[in-house]
Amino acid sequence: MSKAIVNGNRSKGRINRNIYGHFAEHLGRCIYNGIYVGENSSIPNVNGMRTDIVNALKAMGIPVLRWPGGCFADTYHWRDGIGPKDSRKKIVNTNWGGVTEDNSFGTHEFMELCRQLNCEPYISGNVGSGTVQEFSDWVEYCNMGGQSPMAGERRANGQDAPWNVKYWGIGNEAWGCGGNMRPEFYGDLCRQYSTYLRNYDPEHSIYKIASGASEDDYSWTKTVMQRAGRFIDAVSLHYYTRPRTKRWEDKGPATGFPREEYYSTLYNTLYMEELVENHSRIIKQYQGDRQIGLCVDEWGTWFDVEPGTNPGFLYQQNTMRDALVAAINLNIFNNHCDTVVMSNIAQTVNVLQAVVLTEGDKLVLTPTYHVFEMYKGHQDARQLESYVETAMIGSSQVPDLHISASQRDDGTVLVTVANLDDNSPAELDCAVTGLGKLREVSGRVLSGAIGDYNDFDSADNVKPATLTAGLTGDGFKATLPACSVAAFILK
Ligand code: AHR
Repeated sequence: MSKAIVNGNRSKGRINRNIYGHFAEHLGRCIYNGIYVGENSSIPNVNGMRTDIVNALKAMGIPVLRWPGGCFADTYHWRDGIGPKDSRKKIVNTNWGGVTEDNSFGTHEFMELCRQLNCEPYISGNVGSGTVQEFSDWVEYCNMGGQSPMAGERRANGQDAPWNVKYWGIGNEAWGCGGNMRPEFYGDLCRQYSTYLRNYDPEHSIYKIASGASEDDYSWTKTVMQRAGRFIDAVSLHYYTRPRTKRWEDKGPATGFPREEYYSTLYNTLYMEELVENHSRIIKQYQGDRQIGLCVDEWGTWFDVEPGTNPGFLYQQNTMRDALVAAINLNIFNNHCDTVVMSNIAQTVNVLQAVVLTEGDKLVLTPTYHVFEMYKGHQDARQLESYVETAMIGSSQVPDLHISASQRDDGTVLVTVANLDDNSPAELDCAVTGLGKLREVSGRVLSGAIGDYNDFDSADNVKPATLTAGLTGDGFKATLPACSVAAFILK
């Protein structure tokens, strides 16, 4: 029996809904032949956006979408993607497979996608190969409501009202594909760019996110905070999960992996907690009297591409192992909601740890999708401190259970628990304190063997099911199957 406690008297504050954010890059089949099929496609679409994908992402509760990269962002010139489609410039996507980018999905199409999804846009601007003027013009094009050269151009292209885009990334991975800069240089550049990214409406201030560190590069965060902290609202962090022993050139397969790679992947993903805590500590040290947030705007699993697919397209399947990775990371972000203001799993459709995979007109929801859907009640809820007794298991010695909890304004409590043990069910006995008498508990669970996944001919192989849970004198009890993610709603 594993004892857990949800403490209604202690909270780190609201869980920003943007922690449940996503990322869509011009990479492989994420945008083209994924989300965007074009107006003339035989696949049902609204203004070129695949209807089944839009419906799935809405049902999952997508709050914010980052675009257009990634590495692509620092080669992207936004003017290539506006105006009549047949006269848009055709360029080479030099980062991802060297394919032709016809720019048929540009700013107006991205904003239309966000409108259909009812989510906030988050645009990553080009610092690596662009100019301050170009970036500044993009903000004016999107956000100026009155008369101005950029607002006039936007209107000529069919959009009268400003979009009031709030979230702007000042470059991406400036230490790598975004320009191979040193933190001192980037910190200064970030100040300069930030100066010219203006607010055009006092009621819609923009939110500036500096290009942050890779993994444990703490000196990057420190230097950027020291140099540019006064000019930004948040710093990003990128961390991808691979099996522990694997090198970048040999990350291991997304399916059919040995058990030891299941445990070493979970071990590596748990490292996110240490990264979040250490980067947050540095941010706090240099933030002064303004609160600067941490945006984990790229995270997720990165395995070898599926055999026979373009290595530049980063297409991988998604198993119960990915579901556990998603559950652990979302629990970590919930539990650090005092500093983590946004996270964006990479990437929404057909790339890396995707929530949706497509093949022609077929679509599958991945195990990762179901975790996001089961966790969506945490969005904007008040985080509650929670603890669970754990035993260390598996070849990599990971804790068997992982938990987070929150309470919505209507009093409903959501407790999400992952059972990492692929062999044994977990008997959970969870006490709930400080929240009054519970009247009702209901549970849902996603479970399977570590390598189970949904494919185009077996799309419902892994999907949530009802999990029996019973009230006790001071909380609830349930049995979590081996390798599972459970969500309990308490009233
Ligand atoms: O998500 C794939 C790539 O990973 C992104 O383009 C880049 O920012 C990161 O290295």
